[in-house]
Amino acid sequence: MRLWKSAIMAGAAVMIALSSAYAADVKIGFIVKQPEEPWFQDEWKFAEVAAKEKGFTLVKIGAEDGEKLQSAIDNLGAQGAQGFIVCTPDVKLGPGIVAKAEANGLKVMTVDDRLVDADGKPLEAVPHMGISATKIGEAVGEAIAAEIQKRGWDPKTVGAIRVSYDQLPTAVDRVDGAIAALKAAGFPAENIFDAPQAKTDTEAALNAATVVLNKHADIKNWVAFGLNDEAVLGAVRATESVGIPAANVIGVGIGGAESAINEFKKADATGFVGTVIISPKRHGYETAVNMYDWIANDKAPPALTLTAGQLALRDNYEAVRKDLGIE
Ligand code: GLA
Repeated sequence: MRLWKSAIMAGAAVMIALSSAYAADVKIGFIVKQPEEPWFQDEWKFAEVAAKEKGFTLVKIGAEDGEKLQSAIDNLGAQGAQGFIVCTPDVKLGPGIVAKAEANGLKVMTVDDRLVDADGKPLEAVPHMGISATKIGEAVGEAIAAEIQKRGWDPKTVGAIRVSYDQLPTAVDRVDGAIAALKAAGFPAENIFDAPQAKTDTEAALNAATVVLNKHADIKNWVAFGLNDEAVLGAVRATESVGIPAANVIGVGIGGAESAINEFKKADATGFVGTVIISPKRHGYETAVNMYDWIANDKAPPALTLTAGQLALRDNYEAVRKDLGIE
């Protein structure tokens, strides 16, 4: 009996040793389109937490264009990685990314931006985690409508800047959600102006919004929404640069990372009144754990996971963050 017991114990010890030796061999890439953006920094940070916990190696790579992305995938293959998570600089690269991953024997799952095929249809075979874009966009629109009402503005006299990036489906869903909620609250569709950004960063949004503001110099009160905090911050910076006071501007973003927090911390309130906080922990930690389980335990990730958001305003963001367990 005792012999059996020690044999089992020894077997278990070997199993544990084997599995941790295997974990040490697991190498996972985490490729993002905009490494300087706080949202992606946070995703990486939480993916690192998963790497430490599970004992695998995380390779963080920034790939701002298709070429860099292709060589990043080859690189991961050459380094002996088994899989990667990617937020691509261009969703239309979908079939190419899948082919490259296959050629290198790498498992692939996407985060934030879902890959599409030549017809613009999502590549459903690639596991994906993104945000509930339409719902979150609606929360943005509702927050703006509530603030319009609070300030006693007549919606007919208000201009709306839609900072747009229409080549990215999640961006379209987010702004469409915002527009639907604004319209439902009685905001006139003809007062919504498109500001197409060339890139999804603050500078590109600032440039795009400035064009709209100059074209409609007669409008006194403005609201702004877009894909993320950076888009809305760009629009808010544009209003400041043409001399519109903060009291005449309502911008609500999506993200809740450092870009938004820094804005809320400013002593004087700006036109950036709120953000829908989304979860870099789920997008970074959970995708990394999913990929690890796929590689080490042959457990494929869920095909599609859509995460929720929570509205936070300048005056309650600390409480909302605490509530969500982020600090
Ligand atoms: C896109 C945006 C990011 C962030 C993520 C969230 O990738 O570019 O700023 O909002 O979606 O999923």
